[in-house]
Amino acid sequence: MIKVLLIFTLILSAFFTVSAQDFQTARRNLMPVPANIAWKNGRLPVTKNFTVAVSGKTDERLKIYIFRVMRRLEGRTIFEFSRDLSTDAANASLLIETISTGNATPKLGDDESYNLEISDKQAKLTAPTTVGAMRGLETFLQLLEGDKDGFYFPAVSISDKPRFPWRGLMIDSARHFQPVEVIKRNLDGMAAVKLNVLHWHLTEDQGFRVETKRLPELHLQGSDGDFYTQEQIREIIRYAADRGIRVMPEFDMPGHATAWVVSHPEIASAPGPYKIERLPGIFDPTLDPTNEKTYKLLEVFFAEMTALFPDAYMHIGGDENEGKQWNANPKIQAFMKKNNIKDNHALQTYFNKRILKFLQKGGKIMMGWDEIFQPDLPKEVVIHSWRGQKALAEAARQGFTGVLSNGYYIDLMFPASQHYVVDPLPADTTLNAEEQKRILGGEATMWSEWVSPETIDSRIWSRMPAIAERFWSPREVNDVEDMYRRLEVIGTQLEELGLTHRKNQPILLRRLANNQDISALQTLVSLIEPVKEYRRYQVRPQTMLSPLTGLIDAAQADANGARKFNKLVSNRNFSADSTKLKMIFSGWKNDAMTLSAQIEKAPALSEAKQLAADLQSLGGIGLEIVEMLETRKTSGAEWRDAKLKSLTEIAKQKAGLEFQVIESMKVLVNATSGN
Ligand code: ACM
Repeated sequence: MIKVLLIFTLILSAFFTVSAQDFQTARRNLMPVPANIAWKNGRLPVTKNFTVAVSGKTDERLKIYIFRVMRRLEGRTIFEFSRDLSTDAANASLLIETISTGNATPKLGDDESYNLEISDKQAKLTAPTTVGAMRGLETFLQLLEGDKDGFYFPAVSISDKPRFPWRGLMIDSARHFQPVEVIKRNLDGMAAVKLNVLHWHLTEDQGFRVETKRLPELHLQGSDGDFYTQEQIREIIRYAADRGIRVMPEFDMPGHATAWVVSHPEIASAPGPYKIERLPGIFDPTLDPTNEKTYKLLEVFFAEMTALFPDAYMHIGGDENEGKQWNANPKIQAFMKKNNIKDNHALQTYFNKRILKFLQKGGKIMMGWDEIFQPDLPKEVVIHSWRGQKALAEAARQGFTGVLSNGYYIDLMFPASQHYVVDPLPADTTLNAEEQKRILGGEATMWSEWVSPETIDSRIWSRMPAIAERFWSPREVNDVEDMYRRLEVIGTQLEELGLTHRKNQPILLRRLANNQDISALQTLVSLIEPVKEYRRYQVRPQTMLSPLTGLIDAAQADANGARKFNKLVSNRNFSADSTKLKMIFSGWKNDAMTLSAQIEKAPALSEAKQLAADLQSLGGIGLEIVEMLETRKTSGAEWRDAKLKSLTEIAKQKAGLEFQVIESMKVLVNATSGN
């Protein structure tokens, strides 16, 4: 029996153990991985005579999308293609057939599916809608490969559609204003990885970023002049629609509302005056839900905004209202008593229901963060979960649709691997089939306490494609190593869209280095990451007016050098890898010494002094280890304990930055001390 079981297990593992090489072959550089792929023999070569034809129902949006795709293909191949579509469908290199144009302004649930068949003769992309064709065109571009015979598309049969209909990126334009071009290039990136919702966080304690024609004092007094005009907003909405992306605005209330009450202190729950908030955090100013003036103003505001934004959904925030001003206001307390409102949550629900009427009048469906959840709200309200999957599941059980953001907080500087394993609908979900359909998808959140237009792309695009894959691809696509391999390739492709996620780091470093060579500084920055979660403000306090040009701003999540080093150490072939390790450690040591000298001439880098000293120590410890590996000696417990103690000191954050190689160094120390 045992023998039978063993054989059975062996057979099973032969089926289910997929090697890294298999993933590489199966998925090439596709991200998100399509739902169904069948590779074929053959290739469609790309020459300067590459042509595109369309058939079926074609709109201008698709033609312009094709035009842009062709320019990107030119950029990669350095061929110059014809600017015109071919009229010879049978002989075109790429034939795109769409059955209908679909909605010109995208809607939740639009058909985004497509089929792509590539043979030696032709690539044929078929889709029920323009948006489906756009998704297919992005896959097509990701398929381009090259070898000694030139560029080509591998023969393949792909049939693809998204797992979730709601695949979003939230950009907080309120805490740090992000100009139109930043939003546009991010929309290009979103389309490249098949995201379809820009959730635009437009009001906060720190800024009111939307022009209102009816209540101009709101943006004029609440924004330092940094706001989007309505013309710019329409331009962004059009730009997004041309890429199959919905734009859903968020106006956060009743908390996170300081910028509202700068010009309208009479609708706050405590007397003003108020000033635009300059710090990060949770603040007291809260709209007064018991004051009719609040609703008068909001009715005017929402009448204007529901007309400005075409999407069916509008987000009212609703998060982190601690109710301090409500508790302290006798008038509010008396109102609650009189109306039998038992607590602040019930008072917020009373407020939400009144706001809901304004949204409904404008034809909108209300969405809000977890805190708005209340069983007697209309079931069409969307619950946006930032606090956890449990809350989302509970909402689904009670009949509400929901979107998950807990686990996708990219502002917290966690690695892509951590976000990648979070599933809006995990395999062990306890929801039944009907309830599962209510999980619409997910959104990554780019809160902007600590990002400027110069650094925001690096926070988003270092990890966003991995999350986009989670929202689009089948649940079973979950190999972390292969995700990182493809993330690297896609990261390069995203650069052709003007995203600055990679190119701005050396720009920041050159400025910090005061015009000295940055190679030593690059070594350091490749091994350190900003502190995680919300620790940055605690260890390195700044305000919304502070420059975001320090080493902490240049450093990124998923520090590349550290990841490579950790991978090498995790192989545990220390003796075989000793030459590689020696090169790495002497590089660290030499670069640290160079950097220490450079810091003397670069005052903005003075906060990196200890980090440079630590890098030198790490290199030194590493070289001692290599020496032992080479001479096959082991050290005693005393040496080991001293080194582990040093590593514990080095592990502590300095200037808000932490080395990411400490655990691997400890592994090496323990291994060479004979443990
Ligand atoms: C949130 O992070 N307060 C939605």
